[in-house]
Amino acid sequence: MWDFNASGNIICMGSIIMDISVKCRQFPETGETIYTSYPYEVTPGGKGANQAIAAARLGGKVRMLGRIADDAYGHELKENLSQAGIDTDMLVEDKNAGSGVAFVWVNESGDNQIICSPGVNLRNTAEDVKSGLEIMQKGDILLMTMEFPRDILMCAVKLAKEKGGFVIVDPSAAERCRLDAEMAGYIDIVKPNEVEAEVITGIKIESRESMEKALEFMEEKGISYPLISLGQKGIIYKADGKVCHEQGIAVNAVDSTAAGDTFIGALASCLAAGKPIAKAVEYGNKAAAKCVQRMGAQVSIPYARDI
Ligand code: RIB
Repeated sequence: MWDFNASGNIICMGSIIMDISVKCRQFPETGETIYTSYPYEVTPGGKGANQAIAAARLGGKVRMLGRIADDAYGHELKENLSQAGIDTDMLVEDKNAGSGVAFVWVNESGDNQIICSPGVNLRNTAEDVKSGLEIMQKGDILLMTMEFPRDILMCAVKLAKEKGGFVIVDPSAAERCRLDAEMAGYIDIVKPNEVEAEVITGIKIESRESMEKALEFMEEKGISYPLISLGQKGIIYKADGKVCHEQGIAVNAVDSTAAGDTFIGALASCLAAGKPIAKAVEYGNKAAAKCVQRMGAQVSIPYARDI
């Protein structure tokens, strides 16, 4: 049974990155050079920061953990988080590495391809996590990506659970899914997409039956509420023994960048406000549908009034 007593606080952990994005008619083939008439844009992104921004814009009280470089992008990224009302006091300023950058290509169907050079984000330590989570209290939500080494992730989920927190994990990139049984036991909600779900479960997501099997697999590993995001087909999840499908919302998709981050940030803000999981999934789905209608990561994340 759903019995989460939320405190209202959300602590976010994940990459904080500057996105350099450009739209093109179609992606180049290997060895091909293509020209685009669209101008490139440099805007704040990073999966962790996107999720924090979504949670904050949609009503959450958010604190961000991570590292920021002492360079022009670093200052802009931190300022951007503060302006969204996010507590940045625990961000560690690091003079020994440059900011992370993501090269984002978006085609005319709104699909993307991203190459990420994480820079300073690779320098987070378990000590950073311990001090960042010191003030965590019962009923707080830890919302994190899997962009850190396993020892840091384990340290975070264990500590969060010891303090009576609720742990939401977005695997974030297929090559980074390392959801073993030990870690799964500390996680309340995990939200892979179809590719990530296959990496975690070994089950190819191609039919309703395979989705249910994958959800069951994650549940058996110890995840209380496994979700799989299905892109335009919405979200399938298991809660209290029941499989539920939240249908995708048909919109004119311009750029899918940060749609998953918006979904999970919106979901966390709803749970932090004391709403049940079904409502939170529905809200996250609506928020993600808004996000894909604009180009860019954080610039396309909606506010509560937009939903
Ligand atoms: O999830 C979208 C994000 O992934 C982008 O903002 C980019 O920074 C990449 O890391």
